[in-house]
Amino acid sequence: MTTLAIHGGEPVRTKPFPAYVTVGKEEKQALAAVIDSGCLSKYLGVWHEQFLGGEQVRALEAEWAAYFGARHAVAVNSCTSGLICAVGAVGISPGDEVIVTPYTMSATATAILVWGGIPVFADVEPGYYCLDPKDVERKITPRTRAIMAVDIFGQPIDAPALQDLAERHRLTLIEDTAQAPGAKLDGRHTGTLGHMGVFSLNYHKHIHCGEGGIILTDDDRLAERCQLIRNHAEAVVEAKGVTELANMVGFNFRMTELEAAVARCQLRKLDGLLKRRLANVRLFEERVAHIPAISAPRLRPDASHAYYVHACRFDAEVAGVPRDAFINAVRAELPHHELRRAEGVKLGCGYVRPLYLQPLFQKRIAFGAGGYPFSLGEQDYAKGLCPVCEGLHERELFTHEFMLPSMTEVDIDDVGQAFDKVWSLRHELRGRQE
Ligand SMILES: Cc1ncc(COP(=O)(O)O)c(C=O)c1O
Repeated sequence: MTTLAIHGGEPVRTKPFPAYVTVGKEEKQALAAVIDSGCLSKYLGVWHEQFLGGEQVRALEAEWAAYFGARHAVAVNSCTSGLICAVGAVGISPGDEVIVTPYTMSATATAILVWGGIPVFADVEPGYYCLDPKDVERKITPRTRAIMAVDIFGQPIDAPALQDLAERHRLTLIEDTAQAPGAKLDGRHTGTLGHMGVFSLNYHKHIHCGEGGIILTDDDRLAERCQLIRNHAEAVVEAKGVTELANMVGFNFRMTELEAAVARCQLRKLDGLLKRRLANVRLFEERVAHIPAISAPRLRPDASHAYYVHACRFDAEVAGVPRDAFINAVRAELPHHELRRAEGVKLGCGYVRPLYLQPLFQKRIAFGAGGYPFSLGEQDYAKGLCPVCEGLHERELFTHEFMLPSMTEVDIDDVGQAFDKVWSLRHELRGRQE
């Protein structure tokens, strides 16, 4: 009789899934040309023609702005640094509040702390998992300066409602679109849905250059302030004649010519990679459609999704077993992806723990041991603050990456077999807590 792998049976598959590799001969040639030029980065941290970087960085910025439809692109060395630039550019002062989703990677919120800003967490939408405009409105106070929304898992934010709130309350809307390059809402690319949008080009994203990030904006002033924060603002403002000095404390967030050259090649591949990802999502959804406890993610009307991860819902009542028991049993049936053994099987319960439940916020210790910047105000980071987000994370959601473009129909069928096997033997899991 078949036994679940988690109980010692034979797993459905042990051969690793194919690696997701997006780089090849185009990137090699582009890198060789930069190396042959002898100049791997052309920035100068003073007011000079090269304050804005070299040919590859500038070409990448022009191509990125044209592709996504924005007036300015500012390349940086990560999305994290892009988010820090964006928050600094707004002019956040210590103690100012920024409303942010708790269901995101930590950098979305720590970029606020870097400037002494206070992250105020609002809940997520039950259907789409992005920042819920209704809860954002409830959390606005006289100290609120900005909203930081995330196109989480690749789903575009509710831009019309958030833009309306931003306009009515004179707030800046920052869009963290690290997970959604190529997604659209009403025909507009994510990254252009707020006053500034920030992309990631790290190794785990749809397209990458090792590490990198890009900020988009239509606003000349915000673009200039991001460029300054990227490259030692304090050393540049005087010669450049900049008089708005708040947050003109710069960093070295510069992208090298090497990364820019690779990112240019990668941008040309985005459409094709996204198409394959969407096709694999459909295959997976068809393959598990007969399991009544699993529902595929909903798509916001007039939106297209980029599926950074495929975030599905699991109904424990329908299944008669808790989500964690079921998903951990499916995990045990499947292998990791090649080149990513350390990350294990790309299937997990929930996503990251809602940020306010993490030690940084629970202990209110960020910079130094004295509680700065939390000591500048009062914040609610108690369990139960964002019940929708907590419910999704603790009981309802599972995320996987079996739709990566490297996966074939046969690979996805193996995944389907693992789900089928656990579904048919789920009675063996009853009574297990996880
Ligand atoms: C939503 C989100 N924001 C920010 C980041 C940070 O990106 P980076 O690693 O490029 O700094 C990530 C990375 O996973 C992310 O998923």
